[in-house]
Amino acid sequence: MTKETKKWWEETSAWYQAECKIPIGVHYGPGSPDEDKLKLMGSVKGKKVLEIGCGGAQCSISFAKMGAKVSAIDISTEQLKFAKKLAEKNRVKIGFYQGDIRKLKQIRSNSQDVVFSAFALLYVDDLLKCFKEVRRVLKKGGLFVFSVDHPFHRTLDSKKLKLKNSYFDTGKYVDAGVRPDGSSYKFVMYYHTVSGLYNTLKKADFEIEAILEPDSRKRHKMDPWYGLWDYSPRLLKLIPSTIIFKCKPRSGR
Ligand SMILES: C[S@@+](CC[C@H](N)C(=O)[O-])C[C@H]1O[C@@H](n2cnc3c(N)ncnc32)[C@H](O)[C@@H]1O
Repeated sequence: MTKETKKWWEETSAWYQAECKIPIGVHYGPGSPDEDKLKLMGSVKGKKVLEIGCGGAQCSISFAKMGAKVSAIDISTEQLKFAKKLAEKNRVKIGFYQGDIRKLKQIRSNSQDVVFSAFALLYVDDLLKCFKEVRRVLKKGGLFVFSVDHPFHRTLDSKKLKLKNSYFDTGKYVDAGVRPDGSSYKFVMYYHTVSGLYNTLKKADFEIEAILEPDSRKRHKMDPWYGLWDYSPRLLKLIPSTIIFKCKPRSGR
């Protein structure tokens, strides 16, 4: 539920940004090369780029530095506060919006050349709704490029390197507990299978141009998450932790 996710990011943003120190650049996630290397979007100069679930906007700022006209949406006040300060520090102009990426109500139909997202869609309960919105705002011939946690990643225990969850357990995942300071937390994510993601994109009328499972056996530049939390080098040697989709609205539109 979006309310739980918003609360999590309001409480976690400051800690998360300080812990990860994400550099400016278009990253895809743990164990993955960045856009400089993968070149999935080509030149964005002069193009309209929308980032959904922008967080600290390190990717959006990079797009703006490349000459794109950038809009960025996030649900969290704290993440947007951090993002706006960082954009100011980097002297770039970005249209920031606070909102739910299942709706994209601030964005006109057929207005964007590229919609991009890194590690945000795993928090969305209704992906079909979100994908349909992305399709609505994309121009004909536009691109939708996004990354999420690779569905295999959650199946393995990062310390014991043993299977801990069934790949087939999809849907809502909740981690609730108490922090060392006594406050309680609730972290919510939504699990998918690879075919589930693929078929949801098809249902939203996207053509899938490429699925990437970056080789995480070596450390890539622009991967501040390497070694943090569940992204242990031992686990990254065995399975990909990031999956990337590159899609286009189905032709004929
Ligand atoms: C892991 S962070 C990733 C941020 C950024 N894309 C990056 O790679 O650094 C996930 C972000 O998604 C945002 N988010 C999650 N669900 C959302 C929703 N339904 N609408 C808008 N933003 C959402 C969170 O507030 C958070 O900033």
